[in-house]
Amino acid sequence: MTDALSDAALAARENAHAPFSQFRVGAALEDSSGRIYTGCNVENATYGLTICAERVAVFKAISEGARQFRRIAIAADTGILTPPCGACRQILWEFCGDIEIILMNIQGLRERLRLADLFPRPFDASFIEP
Ligand code: THU
Repeated sequence: MTDALSDAALAARENAHAPFSQFRVGAALEDSSGRIYTGCNVENATYGLTICAERVAVFKAISEGARQFRRIAIAADTGILTPPCGACRQILWEFCGDIEIILMNIQGLRERLRLADLFPRPFDASFIEP
């Protein structure tokens, strides 16, 4: 299967800045109008300031005014498809809710799931709003 979203995730992965881990990830987030926002992981010598591909894509989209999202594709080079880390699951829930997630690798393996499958019983704003 190829589609624009998958292609965008693979292309974004090419821009990964991963000199410390050599682990390259690309993400492509589609909003409700079909516009695609991409991200790659961007590492830092202090390690802890590294940001994942998924969060780069989400923050780019939010910063450009997008608020409703349909799908995110996440591309890496692993036989067992790479899922978003815990921090990214929290951020995805915050901004995208129970979004469709397409995990993929560069060999063409794909898996579709929903964020709620990966992130059950989330903490979110509903707990702190009056
Ligand atoms: N990484 C991502 O960008 N997304 C994921 O889903 C998993 C991990 C990055 C962070 C770091 O640059 C490298 O992969 C190794 O953890």
